[in-house]
Amino acid sequence: MLTFAINLSYLLGAVLFVVGLRMLGSPDTARKGNILAGLGMMLAIIATAVEPLDNSSNNYSWIIAGMGVGGVIGFISAKKIQMTAMPQMVSIFNGLGGACAVILAFSESLPYYTADTVLNGGQLVIILSTLLIGGVSFTGSILAFAKLEGLVRDEKITLPYHNIFNLVLLGIAIVLGALIFMQGADGSLMLVLIFTALSLLYGFSFVAPIGGADMPVVISLLNSFTGLSAAAAGIIYDNQLMLVGGILVGASGTILTVLMCNAMNRSLINVLVGGFGGSSSGSTAAGSGDLVAREVSLNDASIQLNYSQSVMFVPGYGLAVAQAQKAIKEVDDILEANGVDVKYAIHPVAGRMPGHMNVLLAEADVPYPKLLDLEDANAALPNTDIVVIVGANDVVNPAAETDPGSPIYGMPVLKVWEAKHVIVLKRSMKPGYAGIENPLFFHEKTRMLFGDAKDSLQKLITELKNQ
Ligand code: TAP
Repeated sequence: MLTFAINLSYLLGAVLFVVGLRMLGSPDTARKGNILAGLGMMLAIIATAVEPLDNSSNNYSWIIAGMGVGGVIGFISAKKIQMTAMPQMVSIFNGLGGACAVILAFSESLPYYTADTVLNGGQLVIILSTLLIGGVSFTGSILAFAKLEGLVRDEKITLPYHNIFNLVLLGIAIVLGALIFMQGADGSLMLVLIFTALSLLYGFSFVAPIGGADMPVVISLLNSFTGLSAAAAGIIYDNQLMLVGGILVGASGTILTVLMCNAMNRSLINVLVGGFGGSSSGSTAAGSGDLVAREVSLNDASIQLNYSQSVMFVPGYGLAVAQAQKAIKEVDDILEANGVDVKYAIHPVAGRMPGHMNVLLAEADVPYPKLLDLEDANAALPNTDIVVIVGANDVVNPAAETDPGSPIYGMPVLKVWEAKHVIVLKRSMKPGYAGIENPLFFHEKTRMLFGDAKDSLQKLITELKNQ
């Protein structure tokens, strides 16, 4: 009866994980999805805790103490964290998941060398894979956190020929793993310790050469590694729900990684070996060769906006830098009060993390139905009077459609030039993340409004109120 109840709980937990994950796909249902997945996890913990063990009794005081400490730390950090620091938090949680997998795998290998516990070849392979994958995701995530927090600078930790060094390190770890496997119980625990240390070192070294701005992709990849290590730990413990949960994390992390790479029009290899983006070079003057970018005054911009019927804001990374989300909402409110239809075009990789713009605009209470995704925005743009670009650059670059030599050629972009007029709010003519010039700024429909986005929007608010 107890076994039946435990298995039923595992099944129900797995269903709750899947349904919860599905619901995370839309902001309307995400909160409920999170709660459902949490319930699934609670069921899993209870079922595992009451499951009778073969050789020892469950140590409830350790389990409860661990849950208490972890729960308090998790609750406080989730309450305190700024939405903009979410990638760092995901990174730390991810790293701790990897560390758990390493500790579990190592503690499972101990009695194999120090007592008479027998492991078959398959179990040994799983333990070694968990040590490797968990170790990489632990130290890789910690370094990703440090990079995102600005604690570590890329060039300080990258060696000459770093990618070759990484390949050699991985090769040594695999050879050592094969040796440990072949020696079986006759081998030494010291070799397992060296293998674990190499895995941890490889995690650092793997993430070291990757540019800071590519970190969201790497974190998502490391997340899928952690999922795989949790799934492997599920096999070690013969726990189906741990296996299912790990596979779900691994699969969703992989899907997110692929989606992000596609939206940036880059291969995963290109992200991992670096060499793209992050440049801040480029012209700061409003001219490039014979091309001249035309400016608009605050007064003209506010009149244009006030007398239009439809306005589409295109937020980008500069909105986050300027923290201009509340100012954009205030302009939106004034225009709506004057009968202007206001929408927001959200590119999937605008900003520097998945959902970056959604998070900022939600913080400013912009209603979710006003946010259009790439396809809907592109369909609406030809009928839009004015597009106001707030700190976006690459995601509105027409070179992605017209210049086969451009590094972003083929990346889906917002076709803002199809609207009747375009106003661009940015501080200079400097390029964005991809480090390339944007012909949009010289387009006949485009007018530049130079300055910090928040500052420009606040001045626009004053102008609009004075009309
Ligand atoms: P970017 O192309 O990076 O352009 C941002 C622009 O904002 C810059 O040209 C900058 O120009 C301007 N800016 C910066 N601070 C500003 C401020 N205080 N006020 C006004 N403007 C400011 O941004 P995007 O269009 O959002 O594109 C995102 C890029 O990041 C894409 O290339 C994407 O592939 C990449 N990326 C995205 C992600 C995710 S998941 N979102 C992850 C990794 C990489 P000035 O310096 O002249 O002001």
